Amino acid sequence: MQFYLFKKYLNNIFKSKLNEQYNHKDIQMRRKRIYLVGFMGAGKSTLGRQLSKELKWRFYDTDEILANNYGAIGEIFENQGEDYFREIEGKLLRSLLTPPFIMATGGGTACFSDNMDFMLEHGTVVFLKISKELFLYRLKKDPAIIQRPLLKKMKDEELIQLYENRLHHYQRAHITHDAMDQTDLLIEKLNSDKVEY
Ligand code: S3P
Repeated sequence: MQFYLFKKYLNNIFKSKLNEQYNHKDIQMRRKRIYLVGFMGAGKSTLGRQLSKELKWRFYDTDEILANNYGAIGEIFENQGEDYFREIEGKLLRSLLTPPFIMATGGGTACFSDNMDFMLEHGTVVFLKISKELFLYRLKKDPAIIQRPLLKKMKDEELIQLYENRLHHYQRAHITHDAMDQTDLLIEKLNSDKVEY
């Protein structure tokens, strides 16, 4: 009986060590997959490029990849509809997993199907936060309608409403970074052990 208990005790130690190692490896991988989420005009692509240069990691821009493969996002919306766009966007997100990389996602990526759950589970998600005034200003200055068909039919108040409806998805991110803050500050946060997975 005593021998049986001792064997069980050793087994448990072995299992928890194995779990520890697995968790450690899993977190190391998640630290090397950075997903940038946030509203249109927040500057996800610009920040993503900057981070990829600094960290020397690969950079993916989901909108750019989709446009290169399927044609301008405005045309996809018009010809195949938004549901189709959301479907290929979700598939693309799940197909790029080899770390290390920085990924700038589209403004809606975090808000459709279980994309946010997927990103939270596989990587480190950064919400790039921007004020309403700033995104309205930026989107007016450079609407890039061909990639942002939603802007064609939305007034300012509707855009603000859309942002507010989406906020709770973005706020699930591991890290929130203010778009006006220095990139170094974000790099510090990414390197710290304080990110909770
Ligand atoms: C969208 C944002 C766009 C692009 C598409 C839909 C959205 O990306 O994915 O037009 O639903 O907010 P950006 O956030 O890069 O503009």
